[in-house]
Amino acid sequence: MSLKPSINLEKLPKHIAVIMDGNGRWAKEKGKNRVFGHKSGVGSVRDVSEACAELGVEYLTLYAFSVENWNRPKLEVSALMELLVRTIGSETETLMKNQIRLKTIGSLSSLPKRAQEQLAKVIEKTKDNKRLTLCLALSYGGRNEIVEACKSIASLVKNSEINIEDITESTLNQHLYDPSIPDPELMIRTSGEYRLSNFLLWQAAYTELYFTEEYWPDFNKESLYKAILSFQQRERRFGKTSEQLKAL
Ligand code: IPE
Ligand code: IPE
Ligand code: MG
Repeated sequence: MSLKPSINLEKLPKHIAVIMDGNGRWAKEKGKNRVFGHKSGVGSVRDVSEACAELGVEYLTLYAFSVENWNRPKLEVSALMELLVRTIGSETETLMKNQIRLKTIGSLSSLPKRAQEQLAKVIEKTKDNKRLTLCLALSYGGRNEIVEACKSIASLVKNSEINIEDITESTLNQHLYDPSIPDPELMIRTSGEYRLSNFLLWQAAYTELYFTEEYWPDFNKESLYKAILSFQQRERRFGKTSEQLKAL
């Protein structure tokens, strides 16, 4: 039986972020190579994006490639880049059909030219889609993002455009890769690893974390419903006491 009807649509997370991990181990257990695992992970991306669009989740950020992932074997990196280009091309129609707008965060200039061009094309084509914003974190590093934001703010100070005293959390927020995307309420990591791996470090200050043993290629719509149900059972206190929240 599907878990979908148990979800309270009034209490949906507006933004879900996912660390899609375990493609390599999934493939290895099947006696296949790691790239086969990455290819199989594309199906889960499609399922989870569609499930979010159907439910009414507004933002979905997927960690697809970290800055640290450039240190993987050359062949794996080039296969991942090739897969990225091919998938974006082949999934454009699905994005349009489901009214999904594509965005990216990360150090995009490090990606191969072809990938950059393909991304720019699809971002432009889907820019007016209103149902779900799908944000791909590519060549992304949370520390990098914070350093870049600091540099932009420092140059504003240098040019006397703002005073140091006026720098607030909101100033830093405004200099992140995409300031229009709100902080994620729920972050999911698959494959039984319990770490952030440099993902959304600033934005995850009060995010609810959900870990599952499932490898990414096995993660499907029901797995997402389960994560959302877990989120809906939690009390988000933001430093207050439980009694204070109940008195509201
Ligand atoms: C996640 O799966 C995909 C990327 C990091 C690109 P992995 O490739 O990390 O799979 P494991 O963790 O080695 O199983
Ligand atoms: C994190 O997965 C990055 C992505 C899912 C894209 P990794 O598999 O690269 O993370 P670590 O290095 O094991 O922490
Ligand atoms: Mg991994």
